[in-house]
Amino acid sequence: MTATIIKNGTIVTADLTYKADIRIEDGKITEIGPDLTGGTVLDATGCYVMPGGIDPHVHLEMPFMGTYSADNFETGTRAALAGGTTMVVDFCLPEPGQSLLDALQRWDNKATRANCDYSFHMAVTWWGEQVFDEMKTVVQEKGINSFKHFMAYKGALMVNDDEMFASFSRCAELGAIPFVHAENGDIVAQMQEKLMAEGNVGPEAHAYSRPPSVEGEATNRAIIIADMAGAPLYVVHTSCEQAHEAIRRARQNGMRVYGEPLIQHLILDEGEYANPDWDHAARRVMSPPFRNRQHQDSLWAGLASGSLQCVATDHCAFTTDQKRFGLGDFRKIPNGTGGLEDRMPLLWTHGVATGRLTMNEFVAVTSTNIAKILNIYPRKGAILVGSDADIVVWDPALTKTISAANQQSAIDYNVFEGQKVKGLPRYTLSRGLVSVEESTIETQPGHGQFIARDPYPAVSQALSTWKELVSPRKVERTGIPASGV
Ligand code: URP
Ligand code: ZN
Ligand code: ZN
Ligand code: ZN
Repeated sequence: MTATIIKNGTIVTADLTYKADIRIEDGKITEIGPDLTGGTVLDATGCYVMPGGIDPHVHLEMPFMGTYSADNFETGTRAALAGGTTMVVDFCLPEPGQSLLDALQRWDNKATRANCDYSFHMAVTWWGEQVFDEMKTVVQEKGINSFKHFMAYKGALMVNDDEMFASFSRCAELGAIPFVHAENGDIVAQMQEKLMAEGNVGPEAHAYSRPPSVEGEATNRAIIIADMAGAPLYVVHTSCEQAHEAIRRARQNGMRVYGEPLIQHLILDEGEYANPDWDHAARRVMSPPFRNRQHQDSLWAGLASGSLQCVATDHCAFTTDQKRFGLGDFRKIPNGTGGLEDRMPLLWTHGVATGRLTMNEFVAVTSTNIAKILNIYPRKGAILVGSDADIVVWDPALTKTISAANQQSAIDYNVFEGQKVKGLPRYTLSRGLVSVEESTIETQPGHGQFIARDPYPAVSQALSTWKELVSPRKVERTGIPASGV
């Protein structure tokens, strides 16, 4: 394979900004230095050359609320690459009672046409000896070191505190990290019933049923359960100050707790649900819902100060027709919004261009921090000799107006419709393959590979039985290396 040389650009990583060329051979970075020659040249004059984005939270072709999210691994990863993201992490969801390994087989099959690299988090949606046993196989043989727990979606995906405590304890001893969707699902269910009974059936009632306090309570509870279990914790879609405050406090107390704002929560606010157009509001129904300006400011401050670590999308796109399942009953509107193509340009425009984030912080929160948390750094999230050539050549002068008319996603609208962005990929490279050249998208279905993730050193070598894990015990905190994240 001939070499590719990225020339005349400024390399920006999570900690350095400097001028150098990059040589790429066989999908890896093989040399970084001045005046490199001998290969196909990609001109990066005027551009920043950064690690490709990693989106740690997507749902592609996800079975959910009686339907499937509309973007599959092919369209979803195409959207990702178009926006400078070169790796996505999806959630493998066993049905309650289903084997984790059977579910994983299904997810492997779904991902065969991925255009960029991907990995999976495994969800724990029920608890029993089989889950306990299979978690070990998932970590030690399947290359998955993260387990997701839904504290909401009662009657579907939700797990209770005793199940979370058992699963978090198991994570600690296996060297895995628990993830949580933190909302108090019992209270949400009660609020939903009450709102419906009072005749509040429209999409705005979705937001009323999930106020910041239900997220704050669940975040605090998950943190305490993780501390009792000796596990670190990753809180997905952190959307409000109450949840952020809980994460900040835990970190000050020495816990390894990470928080993930979504680009949607940073940019869009609760006013979207007041739009009298039912479709407009329903298209923006997701959990947690959009918040007000004070919560948005808290999230931006957390990213700048380091108390929140990663910006994701939770890309879970439904068409307008799918959203209309909930006409007359907001509880049936499939929850989820898209964002894969727009995360990086929007964060650059609203973050870097406004001075809220430095370029290095931008790289940290879109790529490097999650690579460290998921234990794939520096293969991913870095520009170093030996790293995968997942690179975005970022042109800060390119502009566009976001529109469903020219997006890669399969859905018929875009929640960011009409937003102007400045700063877009000139090139996106997925393991050396040039997949995007300005507005030309040349992806290769099937090019994407599963990225296995090793466990961290586990707390205890002696593994307990699944029954022992059900009684509280205080164990040492798990040995996730201090990564500066
Ligand atoms: O509304 C959302 N976030 N849908 C996707 C599933 C989840 O909770 O992450
Ligand atoms: Zn969620
Ligand atoms: Zn509208
Ligand atoms: Zn999600």
